[in-house]
Amino acid sequence: MISITNGIYTLASIYYVIIPIGYLTKWWFTEKEMAGKGLVLVTGGAGYVGSHTIIELLNSNYSVVAIDNLVNCYAEKNQKPESLKRVEKITGKQIVFYNVDIRDKLALEKVFKTHKIDFVIHFAALKAVGESVQIPLMYYQNNIAGSSTLFQVMSDFSVKKLVFSSSATVYGTPQYLPITEEHITGQGCTNPYGKTKYFVEEILKDVCTSDKEWQVILLRYFNPVGAHESGLIGENPSGIPNNLMPYISQVAVGRRDCLKIFGDDYETPDGTGVRDYIHITDLASGHLKALHKFKDPSFVGWKAYNLGTGKGCSVLEMVKAFEKASGRKIKYEIVERRDGDVAASYADPSLANIELDWVAHKSIHDMCADTWNWQVNNPKGFEQS
Ligand code: NAD
Ligand code: UFG
Repeated sequence: MISITNGIYTLASIYYVIIPIGYLTKWWFTEKEMAGKGLVLVTGGAGYVGSHTIIELLNSNYSVVAIDNLVNCYAEKNQKPESLKRVEKITGKQIVFYNVDIRDKLALEKVFKTHKIDFVIHFAALKAVGESVQIPLMYYQNNIAGSSTLFQVMSDFSVKKLVFSSSATVYGTPQYLPITEEHITGQGCTNPYGKTKYFVEEILKDVCTSDKEWQVILLRYFNPVGAHESGLIGENPSGIPNNLMPYISQVAVGRRDCLKIFGDDYETPDGTGVRDYIHITDLASGHLKALHKFKDPSFVGWKAYNLGTGKGCSVLEMVKAFEKASGRKIKYEIVERRDGDVAASYADPSLANIELDWVAHKSIHDMCADTWNWQVNNPKGFEQS
């Protein structure tokens, strides 16, 4: 008799107390998420550009839900990625994180059901140029199929404001310099990675044509480098770095012996390749400015913006700047040109300056000093912690 009464009490308390509290808590969290400037879903949020952008978002009173499948970031078992733990330390704010692959439609739907998402910033992608030549299907699957799954789920939940991480690589070999957004795209993309960026841009243009409610901003990054000024987060390449800046900093810290400079016979002032390096914090703030653009009611469809400084810097200039910022000698040797490299590439960023009210402020010295600060404090990247 007592156990039947207990059972009734238990059922009643589940029905009348626990379930309503559950609903209220869910309602309260949703309201809380909406209290700031809106809730941003950040795909690939634990990566290099994603983690720096989340700092800017949290500091500007956006709420963030980050997803990542951890394929290119470090996390201890069953824990949040280390990069995001450090972002929480820097900002003093909590990040909702899910270990979700953008190709997993059901898992994505669960995230969209749980949170009332206002905007998506889509970083999740594989990005190693050389690897994309070796395993192209993996790149097409991950970057293109994954993106279109994400866009389908967004459409199903009527979330139609998207910022996409594109790349200067869509311009192929520059026909003129500085490169404007009108430059032809998709021609001379020499590797599958670059093609995935071009194809996803094209998919998004078609989506915008089919449904006038979409607002899409394509941010074409030039060469992001540097680290957060705290030295707590930065670029964390696995294995041998492909890109110049992490390679230089690993030589400076003693992890690599000697930098190989790929060619000194280009038609550039000192013969080495020229690029438009942009500080990661400046790049991150460009995403915030892109979100502001969604408030403009006249903005419908898609628009592409270059994120660069507009200034070219050669490999040798970068080596000298890094030596000055770090106080270390960078040993280097000149070797053959690297396949697929262009002599020079730099942006005309005036469209983003005018229409997004965005400007890159930081210098090459800042980029080197902040990279060094991150490297010297984390010689083995996030793994050491
Ligand atoms: P990153 O590798 O540091 O970050 C990407 C994150 O996405 C990683 O944490 C990875 O684990 C995650 N990811 C990959 N595939 C996923 C999937 N299927 N589902 C969920 N998560 C997945 O790279 P990054 O440098 O931060 O680049 C961010 C974006 O910017 C990418 O789209 C990249 O192509 C683009 N981009 C980067 C550069 C650059 O030089 N860093 C230049 C131009 C464009
Ligand atoms: N370089 C060297 N030695 C190295 C690495 C690079 O001399 O060990 C030279 C390259 O030849 C080039 C310059 O340094 O002249 C920059 O090379 P990165 O590999 O750092 O950058 P890329 O411009 O080749 O490409 C990068 C990304 C692409 C992206 C592009 C534009 O790897 O994915 O920026 O955003 F598309």
